[in-house]
Amino acid sequence: MSDPSDAHILAAARLLRDGGLVAFPTETVYGLGANALDPLAVAGIFELKGRPRFDPLIVHLDTADLLPTVADLTAIPTAIGGELIEKLVERFWPGPLTLVLPKADAVPGIVTSDLPTVAVRVPDHPIARRLIRAAGVPVAAPSANRFGRTSPTTAQHVADSFADQSPLILDGGPCRVGVESTVLSLIESRPRLLRPGGVAVEELEEITGPIERALTSSESENTPASSPGMLASHYAPQTPLRLSDEAAPHPDSDRRCGLLAWRPTTTAGEFAALELLSSSGDLREAAANLFAAIRRLDQAGLDLIIATTPPPHGLGLAIQDRLSRAAAR
Ligand code: TXA
Ligand code: MG
Repeated sequence: MSDPSDAHILAAARLLRDGGLVAFPTETVYGLGANALDPLAVAGIFELKGRPRFDPLIVHLDTADLLPTVADLTAIPTAIGGELIEKLVERFWPGPLTLVLPKADAVPGIVTSDLPTVAVRVPDHPIARRLIRAAGVPVAAPSANRFGRTSPTTAQHVADSFADQSPLILDGGPCRVGVESTVLSLIESRPRLLRPGGVAVEELEEITGPIERALTSSESENTPASSPGMLASHYAPQTPLRLSDEAAPHPDSDRRCGLLAWRPTTTAGEFAALELLSSSGDLREAAANLFAAIRRLDQAGLDLIIATTPPPHGLGLAIQDRLSRAAAR
């Protein structure tokens, strides 16, 4: 795979400016982008994904300097303060951190599901940033998959998700991080984690101090979610998936079980199929391999996928979150 040429990027940027959709690589997962300032173009994202309108989108910029064009930095709670935002931006952008901030008037309501806030990030991927820069507009983009399904970490995954409805796809090879960005809300008196992701919470806390943790998916089922897209059931393969502390196949031996193991286990041989996410038990490597492994197991004709639970620190928190949502029905 060779990188898209400048001409290819320019053509994609023109398509974005003309109201079209472009799928592009980021360091986390592939995004399905539209001009964030064009409500009709953004409507096309919801339509193609089959995504409910109450689930707001992340706005992508090519540089942090443009943050004031989409966020109202004068409306940040004084308990948070502009300085904290500067520090976070300085340390983590470009990168897999999304900040939820008061919205600027220029951002249409369809992007934010009519919330007074906007989610923003600067992706750490040269193709994403070349595309956004060439388009000259902020780009609203969710993950480039059908709603509720596994996120794409290769161009082929995007093509598989949309089949004959496929948008233009810029191919940047496999995504380096492999799980979506960490979503941090800065609209209350203390920072709140809305979604664990590519930046570990421990790393954020070095700068912010203690962060309120997100509700687990089962807790958030019964309370109004502070992030409307945080649904209990998400990332779901067609094959039932179950989280387990022990890598033992289902006792009913008629059922073909696959194992999704974040690190090596001695019982791997008892399963009909195996995906090992990291042979050294490295949580970053496991995160990078997670979604492609779920897709492969989903195509292996299994009755059940058993996933071993990673520890809840570093990237393990994001892996655990995605696995428990994939397991929820
Ligand atoms: O890594 C990523 O974040 C990828 C790449 C493409 O950038 N994007 C992504 O987008 O994962 P999506 O749409 O799959 O997830 C966006 C999440 C949802 O959980 C949504 O509810 C939340 O961000 N979100 C967006 N705007 C929000 C807002 N104003 N307030 C609270 N949550 C928001
Ligand atoms: Mg998504």
